[in-house]
Amino acid sequence: MRKKIVAGNWKMNTLPAEGVALAKGVAAGKGEVCDCVNFIVCPPFTHLHSVVETLKGTNIAVGAQDCATEVKGAYTGEVSAQMIAALGCKYVILGHSERRQYYGETSETLNKKMARAYENGLTPIYCVGENLEEREAGRHFEVCKQQIEEVVFNLSEEQFENLVIAYEPVWAIGTGKTATAEQAEEIHAYIREVLRSKFGAKAEECSILYGGSCKPSNAAEIFSKANVDGGLIGGAALKAEDFLAIGKAF
Ligand code: PGA
Repeated sequence: MRKKIVAGNWKMNTLPAEGVALAKGVAAGKGEVCDCVNFIVCPPFTHLHSVVETLKGTNIAVGAQDCATEVKGAYTGEVSAQMIAALGCKYVILGHSERRQYYGETSETLNKKMARAYENGLTPIYCVGENLEEREAGRHFEVCKQQIEEVVFNLSEEQFENLVIAYEPVWAIGTGKTATAEQAEEIHAYIREVLRSKFGAKAEECSILYGGSCKPSNAAEIFSKANVDGGLIGGAALKAEDFLAIGKAF
């Protein structure tokens, strides 16, 4: 059975005290959600530590939104995977479309970041997805395949066992436009087929999350699909009540 995951990507939102309050709110309501749902929250770097401390003793995991390509040293402004792991984080989001789009992340960059994550025992949440132009040109399958082949195919089998994939169509992120449950299932099934071509039966164990304007009102339908194993949630993760409601959608 694949892990069901609801992960919150807080992006560049919340001040430290607000982040702690949000984490407390999620922890307070977690009891109402099936134990079968694995919650992860990904706050900004500045409050990773306080959120990890806040969530100690709960089964809510904490992840970072990015990590450096390099191990350590003279890289002003960067945060290493080792630093993130030392705080008690278990996950790191890599290859989010906002990082690809605004910060020029390429497969080459992401191969390095993936390596740093694994060296430090972090599980990457690797994001793939097409933009509107690519979707309209019918190139979404090809784009996702390439993003997987160029990065995920470089992993060992053991590394692949510790990987979460998030499919996030760029046209649905923060726009209020959601892929239909059928569109999500179609591409999730395709992504799994691509993974199967490299990793065989292990592809059945890999959780593939949907992301892009996922909210309490549409989560149940999207999560009901066979190849959708949860969500990577942006806007709706900023309210404990909504985030918890998405967890209850399973
Ligand atoms: P959204 O963001 O839920 O606000 O669309 C999702 C994401 O970018 O991870």
